This record gives sequence, structure tokens and C-alpha cells, in this order.
Amino acid sequence: MAITVKDGVFYLETVNTLYQMKVDAFGVLNHLWYGAKTDDCMDYLLDYPDVGFSGNIYEAENQRTYSLNTLPLEYATRGVGDFRVPAISVTHADGSNALDLRFEDYHIRKGKYAIPGLPAVYADEAEAETLEIRLKDTASGVNVILLYGVLWDADVITRSVVVKNEGSAPVVLNRVHSLCMDIPYGDWEWVHFYGRHTMERQAERAALIHGIQESSSTRGASSHQQNPTMLLCEKGCTETTGFCIGAALMYSGGFQTQLEKDQLDQVRVVMGINEDTFSWLLDTGDSFYAPEVILSCSEHGMGELSHRFHHIIRNHVCRGKYQLSKRPVLINNWEATYFEFDEEKIEKIAKQASELGIDMMVLDDGWFGKRDSDTSGLGDWFVNETKLQGGLGRLVERINRMGMKFGIWFEPEMISEDSDLYRKHPEWVIQIPGRKPMRSRYQLVLDMSNPQVTEYLYQVMSKILKENHIEYVKWDMNRSISDWYTATLPESRQMEMPHRYILGLYSLLERLTGEFPDVLFEGCCGGGGRFDAGMLYYCPQIWCSDDTDAHERTFIQYGTSFFYPISTVGSHVSAVPNHQTGRSTSIETRGTVAMAGSFGYELDLSKLSPEEKKEVSRQVSTYKKYQELIYNGLYYRLSNPYEENLSAWEFVAAKQTKVLVQGVVFRAASNILRHRIRLTGLDEKAKYRLAEDGRIYSGKALMSGGLLLPEIKGDDIAFEICLEKVS
Ligand code: GLA
Repeated sequence: MAITVKDGVFYLETVNTLYQMKVDAFGVLNHLWYGAKTDDCMDYLLDYPDVGFSGNIYEAENQRTYSLNTLPLEYATRGVGDFRVPAISVTHADGSNALDLRFEDYHIRKGKYAIPGLPAVYADEAEAETLEIRLKDTASGVNVILLYGVLWDADVITRSVVVKNEGSAPVVLNRVHSLCMDIPYGDWEWVHFYGRHTMERQAERAALIHGIQESSSTRGASSHQQNPTMLLCEKGCTETTGFCIGAALMYSGGFQTQLEKDQLDQVRVVMGINEDTFSWLLDTGDSFYAPEVILSCSEHGMGELSHRFHHIIRNHVCRGKYQLSKRPVLINNWEATYFEFDEEKIEKIAKQASELGIDMMVLDDGWFGKRDSDTSGLGDWFVNETKLQGGLGRLVERINRMGMKFGIWFEPEMISEDSDLYRKHPEWVIQIPGRKPMRSRYQLVLDMSNPQVTEYLYQVMSKILKENHIEYVKWDMNRSISDWYTATLPESRQMEMPHRYILGLYSLLERLTGEFPDVLFEGCCGGGGRFDAGMLYYCPQIWCSDDTDAHERTFIQYGTSFFYPISTVGSHVSAVPNHQTGRSTSIETRGTVAMAGSFGYELDLSKLSPEEKKEVSRQVSTYKKYQELIYNGLYYRLSNPYEENLSAWEFVAAKQTKVLVQGVVFRAASNILRHRIRLTGLDEKAKYRLAEDGRIYSGKALMSGGLLLPEIKGDDIAFEICLEKVS
């Protein structure tokens, strides 16, 4: 049994971890523990200092040692004497905001709960158990149901929350966070992932200061600027040692992660939908479902924590035909042609690609409507016959005849004012009456909370997918959202719209991915601006960044790897000088970096020299050879590129039989020792043969002594080392 209850204490156990809560004498649910298995009840760690200037709940009378403001709580509220950041905040019909949540009852069942309308970790009955704990605010009748999914083998706990109004009046939900975790002891640092367009998920680690720190998005998407994931590490935690906790929100809209270090040095973390773009009117009898948070922790550093997230996302979040299978190596025409192409140009690119072993041609932006630049055409999802004279069908057939699959780009959520769709349905865009909407990339956003809009998109997209042999869809989204307003809701409910937008988006994705299970959907948002576990439920890979510069990509992919499996990272070789940075790196370096992901090309291959073409064909076959190891092996970060002069990573196969080490040395220096890399995760008692020269090393030597890289001449030089276990 993964979930047991004894003397009012809930034990949620996985193979290596334990999560504990306890109902106290006043019916308040205290958080006791999240960490290693201890074979004990951890309530002895609860301390009851003098409450100082914190108040008591009414029944605690004049006890100076009981206060909600000093205790570790499982789900913190507002207005009843806990002055730290709350997990939930409401406004009652009388205008007051107190919510006094006390334990009512609980249920345990086999299997993992699902969440209506929202993506969630899935598991079969043998893999997971669900715990539901019901808390109630008696005065208002508001019920808060805390949901816990315990995935034993995966060492993962999921959390979600349902708010049910069983009172006699509506209540406004101002904030319903999915995670609340109080940690009374420890010296903690947090790692979050910030960035910008073309530089997503930069890992930043910082000590917690007293007060509140936050990473969040109000952009209607999870964003380039912050990612809905966070790590809490005990000071000194490394890739291989020390304790850390990770949390990933399965949500693709605006989010909020707050960390508060309080007067007693306790830490509270809350995570969920961003309250700045959220409010929900909950009528009597109705329920609100918050998105899910995936939690894991490790006593052996951030590397092991990443393995657990990679495993859960790959095996219990991603779905469909391509969930676990190899993805085709693709060529995308975007950086090769931008908007300037015709049938002939695309066929030429595909022909050249097919000769070099590439599996799929992806036709990017510009194939539809009047789309000759980014000022027009979005919304008109019918083929542009000036560019593609024989129509889409003929092009697909010709590409298929070359032995290649065909994929296509859509940006379903967007609309150009210069489009037939806008002329027909101007009321479908997000716009506040009486105000001009913000344009971004000269485009407006469709109201995805309006079922007419999602129905229209379903009709046009499914028609194209039905009529043509399309095996891949790139689902793009190229702006942040503002001007929230929808004609489908009354004035008092307008701030429900950002969340309803995401529900509409998810319903469309569910419908299309369900109806076309053989199509590989790749998520995209100006690169990696919506790289989150929510999107990965529908799209098993996401275009990682519009920055295809191999040097910068090592940093972006480093940050991405903390939570997201390598198979989810869309990664391409592009032309030099790089279109984003102007930097030139060798074709070998670009290939090595792009191979740490779902691999492809994005350039005009016919412009390459014969030697470069030979290298491309070598890369494609190398990638295919190692794809299984790259997808299913354990991924280790061997360096921190922010602190070292190189970025190095490693894939180790099951049973530690095969090892692939790759990386880039950034800057060359004269007259220095060669770089040494220490490997991780090998069988220390085994012997490994280095593919390059046949030399045999002990696993212990490779991990303790390491390997010397070849002499590096030049900047941004890649290396690749393959080892095989021989005994
Ligand atoms: C976004 C994507 C690119 C490309 C363009 C097309 O920026 O990230 O890969 O598809 O849109 O407009």
C-alpha cells in the first residue's frame, strides 16, 4: 500500500520517498515531511514556540504556543491568522475573505485521479494510488479537496485541488494554487529557469531571502521569461549529492510560484495559476479544478531528481504513437526560406534531404492564405496556390514519393487583421470593447474560450489532416496575450477568461490528437515559450528555442534538461553565420548539440559543400544509431556551463552497458593541459572499451580519474565519446 493512515497521520510512500501529514487536535492539517523514507512518524519535528505577535485560532483560547502562522500547514488560507502567502484566497458573498479549513474526511483508492478538462499524470491501477482529503470552511460551506497521486515506482507524488461550493451563496475564487508546501527546517536555495525569446530556461540558483520571492508569468502562456518548474536544494546540493525537491506545474497558461522565508526561517512554496490573471465565480453546487503539480525529491542530488522527472514525463505525461517510439529526423524550411518559397524550392530541399538520409520534410509558416510576410494570413488555413501551385496534395505526394514523410506548421490560436477569417469574424478576436488591442508580430489572438472558435479550428485543421497524408504538425503560438476580454462571459466574470482560454486550447488539442493518433504533434511558441508539462501531454516534443546557435543552445538545453526529457527537446542544425547571433560554429559542433534532443535540420542543404553534406549524412546515421540511448538512457549533466569552459553531458544505457558522452569546449587556450571529464553513473566494477581507440578502462577509473579530451583547437569545438561495457 502506497497510502496508509495511522492515528490521524497520512503516510504517502514511494520506493525511496515519504510524504506525511497529520490532522491536529483542532482539525487543522499539518504538513510533517517530504523527503527520504524514515520509517517513523515525523510529528516530533513539530515545534510550538511562543506565538509572539501571531494570533491563535478561537478554540486555542489563550495558548501561547498554537498559531497557524507558525505551524507547517498543508494548505494555507487567508484571513484566519496565517499571515504568510496563502494557497487559496476567496471573496464570499458578504465581501469577507476568511477561509477556515478544517479536516472533514478522506478516501483512498487504487489508480491515479484524472482532472476534467486538464492534463494530468496518468497511470494504471497497479502503478498508483489516490488520496483525497476533504477540508471544509463550515461558515461558508466551501469544501477544498486535496488530491494526491502516489506513483510508487516512479518516486513521484502529484497534487491537485478541487474547490466545491456547498454553501448557499456564490463565492469568488481569487487564487487556487495547486501546491502548498511548508518546510520548517533547512538552509535552502532555489533554482528557477528565467529567460527571453531566443534564450529560454536559463538556470539560476539563489539563496532564499526573508520575504517573498516569485517566478511567474501573466502572458497567457507559461512563457520564455520564466518556466513553471522549480527546485529547492539544500545548500551544497550538487548533481550527485545532497537533498533537493522539484515541482513542475502541468499548465500552459499564466502561473505563479512563490517562495516565502518567514520570521522563523521556515520556507513555504506555493505554485499554481497566476492570481493576477485569474478569478472564478463559483456558484452554489459547482466545483473548480486546479491544474496538477508533479513533485519528486532526491537525497542524491539534482541528477537523480532530473531522472525521475524525465521518467514521469516520458512515461506518464506524453502520449500517442510517438510517446516512446523514435521520431523521424526532419528538415524544416523556416530558416532556409522564411516566407519566400514555392513548390519547386521545397521539393529541392526535400530531395537533397532525402539523399542524406533525413526522414521528413516539414513545411513551416507561409503555405496558407495570403501569407507572404508576418502581417497577414493567419486564420486562413487553406493552401496558398500562388506558392504551391499544385495544391498541398500534390506536394505531399511528391515528397512521399521521395520516401519522406510530410509535416506542416499551424498557428491555430492566432489571427491577422488582413485575413478572410478576420473580415468574417472580427468578434472572434480577444479585444476589450472601446479599446484598440495590443498587436504583437502584427497579429491578434483568437478567443479560445469561445466554443465557436475552437469548433471552427477543429473543422479547418481536421479537414487538412484528413485530406492530405500529413504525419506531423508543428503547433505554434507567437505572442503573449493581453487585453483579456470575452463576449461570452458577463462583466463580473471576465477574469475567468485566461483560464478558460487554456481549457479551450486543451479541448482542441485533445480532440485533434485523439482523432489523429498517428500524427506527431510538436509544440512551439516562438521557440520554447510554452515548454511545460501541460503541453507535453498533447505534444511529445516541443521546439526548444528559436535560437539555433550551437553555443547558446548548450545553455538553453542545460536548463531545459532539469525537468524535461531529452526526447521532448526539438533541436536542429541551422546555417552559419547563425541567424540569431551571427556566430559561426562548425557543422560538427552544430550536429553534436542538436543530437541531444529530437534531431533535425533547418537550412538549405544544397548550399553545403560536399564535405559538409558527407558530415550531415554521417550525423543522421550516428543519431539513428544512438537514438534509443538518447531517448531511453539516463541523462547526466557533467558540467555547469555557467561555471566551466565547457558544456558536457552523458547518456548511459540500462544496465550501464553503453555510454555516449557529448559536449562543447567553449574557448580554446594555448599551452594548457587537455580538458578532463569525469563520467557518472557507470558500473564501477565493470570494464569499458572506448570506441575510438579500443583502449579499455575500468568504470571506477572513468568516474574517479575521468577521460582526457583530445586537444582543442578553436572555439566552440564539440566532442563525442562512445564507450561500451566489455565485462
Ligand atoms: C516561430 C517559430 C519558428 C517558426 C516561425 C514561423 O518563431 O518558433 O520556428 O515556425 O514562428 O513564423
